[in-house]
Amino acid sequence: MRLNPRLAALPSYPTVVLDQKRSALLEAGRRVFDFGTGDPTEPTPEFIRAQVAPAIPDNCRYPTVLGGSAVREAFAGWVARRFGVAINPATQALPSSGSKEAVFHLPLLVVDPQADDRTVVFPDPGYSVYYRGAVLAGGDPFPQRLSGDFKQRVWELSPDVLRRTRLVWINSPHNPTGAVLSRAELRRTWEVCRQYDILLASDECYADTWFDEPPPSILEVAQEGVIAIFSLSKRSGMTGYRTGMIAGDPAWMQRLRELRVNPGLAPQDFVNAAAAAAWSDDGHADERRGLFRQKREVLMSFLERAGLEVVASEASFYLWVRVPSGHTGQSYAERLLEAGIMTNPGSAFAVTDAGDAFVRLALVPDVETCREACAAWAALL
Ligand SMILES: Cc1ncc(COP(=O)(O)O)c(C=O)c1O
Repeated sequence: MRLNPRLAALPSYPTVVLDQKRSALLEAGRRVFDFGTGDPTEPTPEFIRAQVAPAIPDNCRYPTVLGGSAVREAFAGWVARRFGVAINPATQALPSSGSKEAVFHLPLLVVDPQADDRTVVFPDPGYSVYYRGAVLAGGDPFPQRLSGDFKQRVWELSPDVLRRTRLVWINSPHNPTGAVLSRAELRRTWEVCRQYDILLASDECYADTWFDEPPPSILEVAQEGVIAIFSLSKRSGMTGYRTGMIAGDPAWMQRLRELRVNPGLAPQDFVNAAAAAAWSDDGHADERRGLFRQKREVLMSFLERAGLEVVASEASFYLWVRVPSGHTGQSYAERLLEAGIMTNPGSAFAVTDAGDAFVRLALVPDVETCREACAAWAALL
């Protein structure tokens, strides 16, 4: 079989490996505490689900890349409430089929595989699709290695790298660590990108998933040369609907719209109807945040008692845990599996060695199950 060599060179997708491990445990009749894949288990609120069936007409015709105005207006309303920023829903918002495809396709907008300046910068550790999208678009991936507080400081990249760069990804709140960039740090990032004429892509799919303080958006800082990506997956418990929004600089958004017509990246109208309801309501997002907070408290108090350090946990719904000395993330994740506790080794999120000493927990099991998992974990120690 002769494959696209760029595809052949990619490592297995992290969730594929996890799914195999989970299946093996379940087949062996074991109880599984699944902190692996970031797919929340709380039901999608009923008022959102109720939008879908009535929005399916007798003749369900092709949706458009722009989508109807209702979802874009509802999203613009959320942007105004959440960040105090006005965007024009006609020219500055596009629906996406989840934020993942938007992340994956964005490099196609700027990368010229033949050019010397085809670098795509992204945080490492980070969401693996930045790397995959850059590689498959023919870009030159540049993982910016994070450590310490795990904040991505784009202004610390060398001028040589910045001159070759067409696209910079930032991700605040950050997966896998939960680190957040301040308004001042976002501004500094934007200034560097403007200086080098780089498209700044800000993945903010955890904008409404925070613990203490609501994190700022790049849209509060600037819109010129910026594309920001949002999602209802975790905010509204809609992972299976595949629904996100893209917003930013109207000139770039117009080009993106033209790009997205080629593969026909257009969420179904009935999904957009549910998304419009979700973006219009903040109460359910607040409630869900409360649940994630409770789970986090249960786990944090156990981990503290167990002497395990949680690093950079400000927002998102992940805990980035430093493994005990003598272990790698991989070996510790395997040890936890003995107690049925599924985590992700930090290396699954990194191209470099930046995740080697960590495991990531996604706050997925309910509060009671989190308590039971802590007891199972304690028995291992
Ligand atoms: C940082 C980041 N970006 C994007 C996504 C994609 O989310 P979705 O496609 O469900 O909107 C995820 C999912 O976990 C993520 O962690």
